[in-house]
Amino acid sequence: MMPAVFLVILCFGVASGAPALDPSLDAEWQEWKIKYGKSYILEEEAQKRAVWEKNMKMIKMHNDEKGLGKHGFTMEMNAFGDMTAKEYRKLMTDIPVPAALTVKNVQKPLASEFPSFVDWREKGYVTPVRNQGNCGSCWAFAATGAIEGQMFWKTGNLTLLSVQNLVDCSKPQGNNGCSNGTAYNAYKYVLDNKGLEAEATYPYEAKEGPCRYHPENSSAYIVDFVSLPANEDYLLIAVANIGPISAAVDASHDSFRFYKGGIYHEPNCSSYSVNHAVLVVGYGSEGNEKDGESYWLIKNSWGDEWGIDGYMKIAKDRNNHCAIASYAAYPDIF
Ligand SMILES: *[C@@H]1O[C@H](CO)[C@@H](O)[C@H](O)[C@H]1NC(C)=O
Ligand SMILES: *[C@@H]1O[C@H](CO)[C@@H](O)[C@H](O)[C@H]1NC(C)=O
Ligand SMILES: *[C@@H]1O[C@H](CO)[C@@H](O)[C@H](O)[C@H]1NC(C)=O
Ligand SMILES: *[C@@H]1O[C@H](CO)[C@@H](O)[C@H](O)[C@H]1NC(C)=O
Repeated sequence: MMPAVFLVILCFGVASGAPALDPSLDAEWQEWKIKYGKSYILEEEAQKRAVWEKNMKMIKMHNDEKGLGKHGFTMEMNAFGDMTAKEYRKLMTDIPVPAALTVKNVQKPLASEFPSFVDWREKGYVTPVRNQGNCGSCWAFAATGAIEGQMFWKTGNLTLLSVQNLVDCSKPQGNNGCSNGTAYNAYKYVLDNKGLEAEATYPYEAKEGPCRYHPENSSAYIVDFVSLPANEDYLLIAVANIGPISAAVDASHDSFRFYKGGIYHEPNCSSYSVNHAVLVVGYGSEGNEKDGESYWLIKNSWGDEWGIDGYMKIAKDRNNHCAIASYAAYPDIF
């Protein structure tokens, strides 16, 4: 690893000389480093600072343009601030396509049958926002989120389920621990395994370990799972009727990484290729009822400082924006 790191720094030095830093940002840089517990070796600091400044300027420019009505959402500096766009995209895992699709009894909806706002948090189906940390386990957070909701519906108890159990144990189903995986394969594991532990007995470590599942400590189960057709109409039926639904999106853009609030819409977002798993917990619209902007409400696993207390409103009914409906799935408990 080390030679590569030195090579990158060397290339930077040769290509552009010492980066010119903006002294007016000194105090903010120090505060940011403290807030996110960052410390760098001397050789690294100037390069990280230069990247951070570039991101700061991009965010400021976006928010200025938002003020002029060019965007529907705001951005904010956060823990990803010292990463280049390329480094950030490397964090995103390519989510493999599910092996098979099972589509059961899903009928095309009549839009008028559904409420105009749904937020499963208000009904007690959703656990607090968590932080996956330095582990590509978004798929496991999405899957536990959907199972937590269905278990709540069945038992009346909202219990935090074990992400670590999925990270460590669902390799035979095709998941790859902290590298990548899908909620679909996670459901397959819970079904095959006939159980899943709670966070309380099998806590999150943000790294891969040996499988330590104990059936005596199983806290949840599923009897089947459903993968929805790639269409926002089906996602609507599911979110309106069933509860939180796992989904995957194209989260590879700077606008996603620094999202703060408003309805997310990224012109460069893919409507078929995904790299991050999330949980859809509702939908609604902003503005006046007739020509308001509608959104899906998604729960992320990047802590509650990101976005709207850990959530994002993402454009709904705009041609499957960021592929939100392409990999939606949910577990069946009964
Ligand atoms: C998923 O992770 C595994 C193990 O690290 C890796 O071999 C594979 O290429 C990854 N797949 C994708 C689609 O990134
Ligand atoms: C909810 O959990 C508590 C504590 O584990 C348990 O005592 C109670 O019976 C559960 N309630 C239901 C409805 O399952
Ligand atoms: C079940 O969980 C409890 C609490 O974490 C732990 O003390 C116990 O050892 C676990 N049982 C097994 C069989 O691992
Ligand atoms: C979209 O992608 C193009 C090409 O990569 C880039 O030049 C442009 O800035 C991007 N637009 C946005 C809004 O990110």
